[in-house]
Amino acid sequence: MPECRIRTMTDDDLPDVSRVDLAAFSLAAQRFGGHPIDHGRHRMGLEYFRRAASDLCIVADTDGEVIGYGIGHRWGDTAWIGPLGVLPEHMGRGVGTALMQGFCTRAADGGATVVGLETSIAQNVRIYEKRGFLARGVRLLAARDLGPAVGAARAGDAATAGATGRFDPTDGAKVGDFTILPWGAAGQARPASRIKEARKLAGLVTPGLDHTGEFDAVPRSGMGPTYVALDGADRLAGYAVLHLRAYRSPGFMDTTPPADPLVWIMVGSAEATGALLAACEAAAQAAGAARLKVPCYGGNPHAWAVLKQLGYKVDAAFIRMFWRGQYGGTADRKWGQVPLDLSSWLG
Ligand SMILES: CC(C)(COP(=O)(O)OP(=O)(O)OC[C@H]1O[C@@H](n2cnc3c(N)ncnc32)[C@H](O)[C@@H]1OP(=O)(O)O)[C@@H](O)C(=O)NCCC(=O)NCCS
Repeated sequence: MPECRIRTMTDDDLPDVSRVDLAAFSLAAQRFGGHPIDHGRHRMGLEYFRRAASDLCIVADTDGEVIGYGIGHRWGDTAWIGPLGVLPEHMGRGVGTALMQGFCTRAADGGATVVGLETSIAQNVRIYEKRGFLARGVRLLAARDLGPAVGAARAGDAATAGATGRFDPTDGAKVGDFTILPWGAAGQARPASRIKEARKLAGLVTPGLDHTGEFDAVPRSGMGPTYVALDGADRLAGYAVLHLRAYRSPGFMDTTPPADPLVWIMVGSAEATGALLAACEAAAQAAGAARLKVPCYGGNPHAWAVLKQLGYKVDAAFIRMFWRGQYGGTADRKWGQVPLDLSSWLG
């Protein structure tokens, strides 16, 4: 094989990344009984991830041909990789290993104290273990069907909006004891102080965790809105980044990929996340989606109980693995006393 170089992904690489991704994951789906894959990743989603952590998005290049890629993410001191794929004809020759090493080195050089990944493919665990990743828990993906009755049990504007098929909380939607605002509106009011509050909230989940880099990127990309929940004293009680659009679509240049909403990031008290979920459900319904997916760290019984009570059921499970550090807490953590973190580790 000609020499393979790991380099930073550029904008021009995105069509190739989409092509490699489709080939790699189609093979994985065929082999490991995953969902068949009909479409590639679209430019909009790839651009979003690349903008959010451009130094951690990398490709394996052989004589100018992209044969592998890795999408990296950074939330403050936490960095993780996924998805990651290699062209089937180049698999088994060390390209994936080079991508993982390249990513880990970049993440560590950038100061990450927590470096990891998640996989739903049990067969891949051995591959990652051999490359220094330790399996340390499970993340569940919960999902809830959004029938017309959703939200009926919950007071407030979001519930009404879900039923009417419109949700625009620009001036603030009242949900229970909270006011839900899109980040833009809240940001215009007091951006620096809100960002400080968001960092403080995330730091209670895991020191150094910081989601604020995603707040502006998501609404600007078209992938979805960001909401904040303010309590009666105008304090930030939670925030959510909603990806309304599926990551794959029939056309690479699609600007309105199909709705397939996933809560990408959500942090807050149990009450605040309940209000934020109602807002996300309403936004998902307004976008024409039939269900909402919400990630949940499997080791946190408190978070799971909250989701279960709201009608969410387990849809999928992912093994969380760390190359460095820990994230998500330990079994003896006082779960009920820290903010809930309903965030994904996939892209
Ligand atoms: C997982 C993946 C990124 C690894 O890349 P790779 O270039 O094949 O990896 P490497 O050559 O560095 O070796 C990784 C190991 O995977 C094995 N392997 C995985 N898929 C393979 C394939 N299709 N052909 C040959 N070997 C394969 C290799 O034998 C090697 O085993 P070892 O640990 O005993 O040495 C790549 O196989 C891939 O794109 N798979 C499909 C998509 C996927 O599963 N992505 C990750 C989702 S979590």
